[in-house]
Amino acid sequence: MENAWTHTTVLLSEAVDALLGQTPGTRLDDAAGAVFVDATFGRGGHSRLILSRLSPGSRLIAFDKDTDALAEAARIDDPRFSIRHQGFSHLGDLPEASVAGVLLDLGISSPQVDNPARGFSFRFEGPLDMRMDTTRGQSVAQWLAHAGVDEITEVIREYGEERFAGPIAKAIVARRQTRGDLVTTTELAQLVADTVKTREPGQNPATRTFQAFRIYINAELEELQQALNASLNVIKPGGRLVVISFHSLEDRIVKQFIAEHSKDVYDRRMPLSLPKNKKLKALGRVKPCMSEISRNPRSRSAVMRIAERLAA
Ligand SMILES: C[S@@+](CC[C@H](N)C(=O)[O-])C[C@H]1O[C@@H](n2cnc3c(N)ncnc32)[C@H](O)[C@@H]1O
Repeated sequence: MENAWTHTTVLLSEAVDALLGQTPGTRLDDAAGAVFVDATFGRGGHSRLILSRLSPGSRLIAFDKDTDALAEAARIDDPRFSIRHQGFSHLGDLPEASVAGVLLDLGISSPQVDNPARGFSFRFEGPLDMRMDTTRGQSVAQWLAHAGVDEITEVIREYGEERFAGPIAKAIVARRQTRGDLVTTTELAQLVADTVKTREPGQNPATRTFQAFRIYINAELEELQQALNASLNVIKPGGRLVVISFHSLEDRIVKQFIAEHSKDVYDRRMPLSLPKNKKLKALGRVKPCMSEISRNPRSRSAVMRIAERLAA
């Protein structure tokens, strides 16, 4: 069903301004031809605005794991644009210091959440899948069919910050032994609702468990850390790193990464030696304004962090 679900891009102009360095006094899209990366194409909201502002000699390379995103990208008829069906941890495959800016708009797109067949949402009945890339890897249902209580507990606790991780994991394994594997989203949502007796106001009891399984099955935090590390190699001095995150686990990684590389590093064993140069300069943190949040409630948890790659 083409175009049945749409994605409203979060921090659209703010992210593109930050990426292209179109804050007053600067412009990174130089005449010599710059290369920018949209590491999370989604439905191409950011990519299309970047292309509309890019000079003729510049290029935009996009990444996405999702074949539906790739199909949408195929509609862009622009020789400056290309997309790779890869995790953004492959950013490091690009040549060293070849890129003027990298944008990461993390998490999943609205079409992924809203399509019951993808299994991301407890609101719709669907297969318990949750893979961004349905061409490889195991689904949540396949993983839960063999994972042990300790492993499931750790995933729910670590990635869902769920107090009832242990009881939920035990209930999943007990159900497997008595009634067979969990195969649908609603079976999992019901099991969690039956297990977690207290309710957080305004939140479905399965929210944290679904978030945890999604993060785990897509190795989201590992991919993010790898992409951030790779960005230091591929972004050239003066170039930008722009990251939009939607929950505290992601934002903590981004914040710590920028902080760690924004300070001089001294070697304690050699007190008189010069410090190793810092690699990044933090340029700020932006949140959606009230009018964006009222237009697009999914933007309310977004935090964008911007950093500039300093000369080595
Ligand atoms: C929030 S959406 C991006 C929306 C996009 N900025 C737009 O305006 O349409 C995130 C997208 O990134 C993709 N994605 C998430 N993690 C990824 C990863 N590690 N590697 C590649 N793509 C990823 C998802 O499949 C999804 O399509």
